[in-house]
Amino acid sequence: MRSLRSGFSLASAVVGAAATLGALLAAAPAAHAADVPLRESADAKGKVIGTAAGGSHLTGARGEITGREFNWLTPENAMKWEAVEPSRGTYNWAEADRIVDFAQAHGQQVRGHTLVWHSQNPSWLTGGSFTPAELRTILQNHISTEMTRYKGKVAAWDVVNEAFNEDGTYRQSLWYTGLGTDYIADALTWARAADPAAKLYINDYNVEGVNAKSTALYNLVKSLKERGVPIDGVGLQAHLILGQVPSTLQQNIQRFADLGVDVAITELDIRMQLPATQAKLAQQAAEYKAVMNACLAVARCTGVTVWGFNDADSWVPDVFDGYGAATPYDENLAPKPAYYAIAESLGGTGQPGPGDGCKATYSVVSQWNTGFTGQVRIDCAGTALASWKANWTFAAGQRISQAWNANCTQSGTAVSCSNLSYNGTVPAGGSVTFGFNGTWSGSNPVPVVTLG
Ligand code: G3I
Repeated sequence: MRSLRSGFSLASAVVGAAATLGALLAAAPAAHAADVPLRESADAKGKVIGTAAGGSHLTGARGEITGREFNWLTPENAMKWEAVEPSRGTYNWAEADRIVDFAQAHGQQVRGHTLVWHSQNPSWLTGGSFTPAELRTILQNHISTEMTRYKGKVAAWDVVNEAFNEDGTYRQSLWYTGLGTDYIADALTWARAADPAAKLYINDYNVEGVNAKSTALYNLVKSLKERGVPIDGVGLQAHLILGQVPSTLQQNIQRFADLGVDVAITELDIRMQLPATQAKLAQQAAEYKAVMNACLAVARCTGVTVWGFNDADSWVPDVFDGYGAATPYDENLAPKPAYYAIAESLGGTGQPGPGDGCKATYSVVSQWNTGFTGQVRIDCAGTALASWKANWTFAAGQRISQAWNANCTQSGTAVSCSNLSYNGTVPAGGSVTFGFNGTWSGSNPVPVVTLG
């Protein structure tokens, strides 16, 4: 790690020599964490706090938050059949590997998602014409190939996903129509053989409360247990709507647990009609807390995974017109009331941590050929700071060569700048600014700055 420390201002010399392009005042907001990361509180309780992730969401501020706040990761799409075997016999593990590697590097467990589903299957499979015997072999081979690749690296698998219709009848998927009901028992049996240590789940949506669909799932799990079919857990996806958290959630979790299986909330989000208002966000926070508490109240509920931690990456607006704001962080990657509600339910204080109430704004003051001058301004509203540290990740290979009014270090793409002896204190209503020179090539995008 290189240390670049200086306490002087040389902006005028550099800017004077440079072909200044004018102030590129692109600003990015800061993202703040609670005083204790969610995963630390969850670890202390032996519970999962996870997020779904795409392989392209593991760098920069997204990567920092994903690594800092969550102890489990679920690949949002990367392990689905169409992603891993787009042509028959041709595998592409790149994105799934990236997520698994990230998880291992950050001490996180992986939830594999998903092996047997009616959706996101490759066209060679859905458009093919196979005898039942061929289909069985194809399915067994898929389960065995994918689970063997990640043996020891994926702690739990959503083996079967979304097997039921809303009325509790079986979904007429290619698996059901081709192989009959026992495709589920067979898939679980093949999964156990492929990785005996992995926890095997059946996962579905609209099964959070007691209703016809969840009762059908309950009856299936009961009969699988009675038959000795390997099943370790039930995943309740929990794609919920503001104001509609089922009142029977805890009771439903408990009845599955009483069958002798684990229960996990696997894909939590709570969507609202846009625009989001303070009142809706406060209600959402209370509802996130209610879901957390329902899980935490049942010993066999392993914990909660959110389906993407921030509103910018959420699947919701793409699918539900006019709805969004469903996750615990907003589109600028700043935590919402829901984030603090989760923190509180896990036993954290739910209070903003150092740096909250303050925001950092990164600006490119000028840039030329291969050089630039940047600055970060920290503004504090209701909170005072006794010291500060501003962190960010450069996305395009920029490097800092010199800093003033801060002690900056850069390791790879990660930059961390802390106060000097004379400017650590920022009173409520006050601000502090530090600057730096750096190099760039190609592009010079503005990073998201996190205060720590
Ligand atoms: O990869 C293609 C890209 O090449 C193309 O340009 C783009 C154009 O639309 O589409 C991309 O594929 C999209 C894919 O996500 C990857 O981003 C698909 O259109 C889109 O339909 C797909 O949506 C995913 C959805 O599952 C598919 O059913 C969502 O991201 C994902 O969050 C969602 O997750 C599911 C769970 O697996 C199961 N439970 C419900 C949950 C929400 O639907």
